[in-house]
Amino acid sequence: METPTVGGHADASSSDRPALDAIVHRLACPHCRATPLRRDHRSIRCRAGHSFDIARQGYVSLLSGRHRHRGDTAAMVAARETFLSSDHFRPLRSTITALAAEHAPRLPELVVDLAGGIGHYLSSVLDALPGSWGLAVDLSPAALRRASRAHPRAAAIAADVWEPLPLAPRTTGVVLSVFGPRTVAEIDRILTDEGVAIVATAGPEHLRELRDRVGTIGVDPRKPDRLRRAFTGFVQVAQHAVRWRLALRHDEVGALAAMGPSAHHSDPEQRQRAIEQLPDLVGVTAAMDVTVLRRQR
Ligand SMILES: C[S@@+](CC[C@H](N)C(=O)[O-])C[C@H]1O[C@@H](n2cnc3c(N)ncnc32)[C@H](O)[C@@H]1O
Ligand SMILES: [Zn+2]
Repeated sequence: METPTVGGHADASSSDRPALDAIVHRLACPHCRATPLRRDHRSIRCRAGHSFDIARQGYVSLLSGRHRHRGDTAAMVAARETFLSSDHFRPLRSTITALAAEHAPRLPELVVDLAGGIGHYLSSVLDALPGSWGLAVDLSPAALRRASRAHPRAAAIAADVWEPLPLAPRTTGVVLSVFGPRTVAEIDRILTDEGVAIVATAGPEHLRELRDRVGTIGVDPRKPDRLRRAFTGFVQVAQHAVRWRLALRHDEVGALAAMGPSAHHSDPEQRQRAIEQLPDLVGVTAAMDVTVLRRQR
């Protein structure tokens, strides 16, 4: 395999995107649903002639033009990258990776990270599954730029997870869905018969010490029973409650607050003033649930 170009100014010549070349035949046209798509130098195309440019930053936009949602801002994505690089969420990352290694089908050729952000979890899972290729799906250009170089075997596309995914049916061995929006019917459609979905959600007590003081941060109110109901036609094959304590400096609390959904609404200066009132090292609860689901046979 050729080493992909790493860096912000990668040019999309025909040899520098091995991951895109490896997965392009599993993509579907967002306009006419034709599949497979094919690479043609700096674009990918369907047989009806719809064409999608490979951005200089390495990802491809397969948006249908209908999407009404927005992804994370550049500031949120930068905060996410800063926070995740500290590896404070390592217990979550290790759990997701171990569950993927244990429950993935024998040859999961494709791992799709839905609303995958910067590809943080996707890259670990690809390390654990050496024969697999990865695809990060997100709406945020800033996140996609990072995701497209998160791992030599990862590609990235812009798509709205609330719309039909631009993927052929029964193409995906593992779907990751970590704190992001998801459509179960589409997960169902893209998974192979042996495929699994690995879903991480925040428990009710996640970051509870910060909620009142710094705003509601990254809390997913979805309860496990709600997840089970949403995944009709699936069985849970594993569920892990991951709980640990974080000790965070002010700048780390700031990054955590700035990367979460509340950053869309809250005022950064007000948030900073609230953070300054906290002790130098802030003790915080991390509480996530990771569930592995497979289609009922
Ligand atoms: C809370 S972040 C989680 C990112 C990643 N899974 C992680 O845990 O690091 C949610 C992500 O969903 C993306 N997003 C939001 N709405 C979306 C949509 N409708 N379609 C695709 N991605 C979306 C955001 O851009 C953001 O990267
Ligand atoms: Zn088409």
